[in-house]
Amino acid sequence: MKFYQLTRAQRLAALVNAGQLSDADAAFLAADTPLPAAVAASLTENQLGQFALPLGIARDLRVNGVTYQVPMVTEEPSVIAAASNGARLAALNGGVQATTTPHLVEGEIVFEHVADPVAAAKLVRARTAELMAVAAAAHPSIVRRGGGLQAVRVSTPGRFFKVTLVVAPQAAMGANIVNTIAEAVAATLTVWLAQPALVAILTNASAQLTTATVVLDPATLGTKTTDGSAIAARIAALSELATCDVARAVTHNKGIMNGIDAAILASGNDTRAVEAGVQAFAAASGQYQPLAQWHLTATGTLVGELKLPLQVGVVGGAISALPAAQVAQRLGGYKDVVTLQQVVAALGLVQNLAALRALVGPGIQAGHMTLQARALAIAVGAQGDEINRVAAGLATVPKDRAHAQAVLAALRKDETT
Ligand code: MEV
Repeated sequence: MKFYQLTRAQRLAALVNAGQLSDADAAFLAADTPLPAAVAASLTENQLGQFALPLGIARDLRVNGVTYQVPMVTEEPSVIAAASNGARLAALNGGVQATTTPHLVEGEIVFEHVADPVAAAKLVRARTAELMAVAAAAHPSIVRRGGGLQAVRVSTPGRFFKVTLVVAPQAAMGANIVNTIAEAVAATLTVWLAQPALVAILTNASAQLTTATVVLDPATLGTKTTDGSAIAARIAALSELATCDVARAVTHNKGIMNGIDAAILASGNDTRAVEAGVQAFAAASGQYQPLAQWHLTATGTLVGELKLPLQVGVVGGAISALPAAQVAQRLGGYKDVVTLQQVVAALGLVQNLAALRALVGPGIQAGHMTLQARALAIAVGAQGDEINRVAAGLATVPKDRAHAQAVLAALRKDETT
């Protein structure tokens, strides 16, 4: 049986047997363990309750020769199905290759009333070593871990005078580290420039980029009705459309973020930071662009490349406070920031591949309808192989609860007569 056809208990057991999930983590997931009350109360103001979402995995995503099980939290039924399908197609072609530039996060300290920006820039450059010392004193533990303030830059956006701090946050996402350093450095600059800073905070724009690439043999892309090379050519055309049609680029990127947001949320990271950085990057040229692009090579292979910033960490903040995020990090094998970034980028790329292949082939509604039928079957109490049989029985009748109940009842009656 395929992984999705197993019961939840069987899936957990399969992951434990494969050495991909510990017994303790399987028990944690099986028990639908809620957040400890104290954690829930401390993570939000005015807490009233908890809000549950399903956690699943995209199976067997191959990235740089290693196979990952990618935990995802999402309420959209087709997302994990598409990701797993995309991962399967990529694996048939040797998997995804991914690279990242060094994990650096920037902070900006901006002043409004600098009469002589050239002199101020000179001052900051001449006394950068002092700012480095202030930063180190503000956050000594990040220096002990080999990170901290790496560089100081000066610029003048519009009428403002800006000092940019380039910080290495090591295993952390960096928001707290950068903000602590930025406020300390801002206090020193306030004295030097004889005025308060207008703002001292990290930017969620990121110069650090992760790139995921896959090279596909079109023969692996065929569907029941369409030949693989036709699918490959149409995927390349649909990708090209997204480069010149913003309406399409937005939806193209929404599909990519279906996977990325779900994996980021499961990992305990800040989805809004990632979204803000990614969308700014997509619009950086002045024309909103697709994050992943596909083209046919001279030899007929289909090459896909996704490039984006991913401001994430593997320690700190909610990541450490949320027990489910800890489980997800172990299951995902996110041993460091680079691994998380590369796996997430690869996921976005295969998510896009699955979406485009469906769009240029049978369309996405066929798949969505099957998933909806299975969800209905489960909702009316179908179990085990009944789920697919009830779903099949809903193919030719309206997909609603009443019909699902009737199909299930008929099936069970057949079994007992
Ligand atoms: C649906 O959630 C995502 C898609 O619309 C993405 C796309 O159109 O590329 C299928």
